[in-house]
Amino acid sequence: MRAIHPPVMRPIRFMVVLVLGLALLTFVAALVVQQTTRTWFENDVKLRAELAVHGARPALVRHWDPGHAQPLGRLLEEITRDERILAAAACNADGVVLATTPEYPGEFSCAEIVDHVESAEATSATTWTTVRSIPSGEVHLSAVPVYVEGQPIGFAVLVHDLGFVARRDAKTRTFLFAAFGFLALAASLVTIVAARTSWRGWSAELRRFLRGGGHRPEFQPILRDVRELVDRLVAESEADREGGAWTAERLKQTLRRHLHGEQVVVVSNREPYLHERTPEGGITVVHPASGLVTALEPIMRACSGVWVAHGSGSADRQTADAHGRVRVPPGEESYAIQRVWLGAEEEQGYYFGLSNEGLWPLCHIADVRPVFRGEDWARYRAVNERFADAVCDAVDGDDPIVLVQDYHLALVPRLIRERLPRATIIMFWHIPWPNSERFGICPWREELLDGMLGASILGFHTRFHCHNFVDSVDRFLETRIDREQSAVVRQGRATLVRPYPISIEWPSRWTAAVPDADECRASVRHELGLPADALVGVGVDRLDYTKGVEERLRAVERLLERQPELRGRFTFVQLAAPSRTAIEKYRELNETVERLTDRINARFGRPGHVPIVLLRAHHEPASVVRYYRAADVCYVSSLHDGMNLVAKEFVAAREDERGVLVLSQFTGAARELTEALIVNPYDLEQASAALAVALRMSVDEQRDRMRAMRALVAEFNVYRWAGRMLVDAARLRSRDRLTDRLTEPVIAIAERARTGTTSR
Ligand code: F6P
Repeated sequence: MRAIHPPVMRPIRFMVVLVLGLALLTFVAALVVQQTTRTWFENDVKLRAELAVHGARPALVRHWDPGHAQPLGRLLEEITRDERILAAAACNADGVVLATTPEYPGEFSCAEIVDHVESAEATSATTWTTVRSIPSGEVHLSAVPVYVEGQPIGFAVLVHDLGFVARRDAKTRTFLFAAFGFLALAASLVTIVAARTSWRGWSAELRRFLRGGGHRPEFQPILRDVRELVDRLVAESEADREGGAWTAERLKQTLRRHLHGEQVVVVSNREPYLHERTPEGGITVVHPASGLVTALEPIMRACSGVWVAHGSGSADRQTADAHGRVRVPPGEESYAIQRVWLGAEEEQGYYFGLSNEGLWPLCHIADVRPVFRGEDWARYRAVNERFADAVCDAVDGDDPIVLVQDYHLALVPRLIRERLPRATIIMFWHIPWPNSERFGICPWREELLDGMLGASILGFHTRFHCHNFVDSVDRFLETRIDREQSAVVRQGRATLVRPYPISIEWPSRWTAAVPDADECRASVRHELGLPADALVGVGVDRLDYTKGVEERLRAVERLLERQPELRGRFTFVQLAAPSRTAIEKYRELNETVERLTDRINARFGRPGHVPIVLLRAHHEPASVVRYYRAADVCYVSSLHDGMNLVAKEFVAAREDERGVLVLSQFTGAARELTEALIVNPYDLEQASAALAVALRMSVDEQRDRMRAMRALVAEFNVYRWAGRMLVDAARLRSRDRLTDRLTEPVIAIAERARTGTTSR
């Protein structure tokens, strides 16, 4: 047998210690992860129970009597339709059972639970919870008190299945142990290789070479290769290390590395900076209330280039040069806005007419009928031509990167493609895409689809909208659908159709410019004439019927009906930016919101206090952040929304990890911000119950939820959104260029054969 050489012994000992250390670490990590996720799931189950009971409360209260066991039992069965609720019981305040569902386990008697509920109430923890085992596995019990006019009349017990937690625990454990196995194996291999290398004295030799010691000419080429390799590895590992966070800098580098720093041209209807005349005769800069602008502006700051947009400010002509150009951001100029001037009739037909009376309601499910007029369509086409011309004038070469934004400019991709066949065109659709049946009612559906398919990449917020788009194309256009690649091929050219959920700048420059949460809380309450401990809710929107402002105010009204103790204590502040007021539906909405506010204030107001404060004006971003920071709850109640960046802005503003987000399930954001209280804004019982839960939520739970949402928005920020689209565009670009290089000679040979010339 060969003796083990002494120098190898040390690494082996090291390896054993390393593997044991890793094992210990994995074990501890498994315990911590399991404990944390468990607490999290249990909290979630508790909240679901509270929402279910609050939602059904009016009906429960009606039958809260031993003589109503049957209807009460039916109500409980209704609640247990939720797949994770196994059984339910209703108990009166003395611990007497009023009704149960058939599966309710006998061992959880009302008489036993009543003591716990009473002591929970004494400590103002309203819901008592526990975890128990029954033969089918672990279950979670929540006893939620039921109140009538502030007095408890008993409690509802909901039994949740915790089997899913055990399943998720098992998956987490498997993952951690697999990771341990992998790390242990990698550590062992590295140790063995290092031991062997050092034993043979190779590392010293290699180091000498890398330091430039390899003077022998025969080693020079190898040395050069090794140096190049090392440089590349260092560069790649730096890029990987950056990997966690997408920043403006990383986006710039991506543009440089993948697209060789080529100029980016953005084209949208709305411009990022409007110059407006003030009543005093001066000029002020306005940041418009627009999700599109919120997202794209930081991208342009990072990438520079040109942003082509409608010059709609009253002092826009005055501040632009003779070609309609102005450098922005004011004071930190890094890119240019190329303004497109539109006449009143053009704006009426293209913007108010086809875009906002036709396409906007077509794409949103908000019970407003689209209006399609032939003259609007003619203007829309003409204005799209004007935007495409402006883009072609703004670009440098014949293969620019153009980012076309939104439904105002659906024809622009095709128009640019016709003029610049080699351009990389990314079109992003900021609003939902309807199902093909609904889209089919548009008289110009084929033209719109064909216009969009001029793009190289077509982006939507969600996969669902991508599917709707591809289905519409499949139904109305002659194309080939490549479902595997998620692409549509038309006239030999492919358009990738991909989801790119949009986001916001992180960290946001507005949050840095505003005082901290304590100061905002105090100053906003002071301004509104509220005491320091007043509860404040906030809503922030353009006044648009898709935003569910009416439903939101009605939910606040219902909350005050159900929770009399909140009257005089709770104020809801609605920041409402007037929008598209030349359109009748928007004017009607304005009036409805005003009437509703007056009615609620008349019902629940008191001397010196109104429950709803309606601030109907444009608010600059810094002012919006102040309200976000001052609020205990932010309610985003959109009836249909591609993403909704207000939800993400609220999360970004809450550096103090406080405040609760109540979020409509009909927003794209609800798919990402799952720690918000997700509600159906049409269901006033549920929405008002969620507001009540939000206002009572413990500081710890607020922190846990906010922390998770902040981590998500930080990671999936707008730089990542743009970076992913640009990397995909770069891949397409290289592929197209390679195809061009390969096909050019073939075309040349064919041409020569056709004309009868020969090559020399
Ligand atoms: O995000 C959707 C969107 O329609 C943007 O295109 C637009 O800038 C924004 O909402 C605000 O609307 P408007 O530009 O009509 O004021």
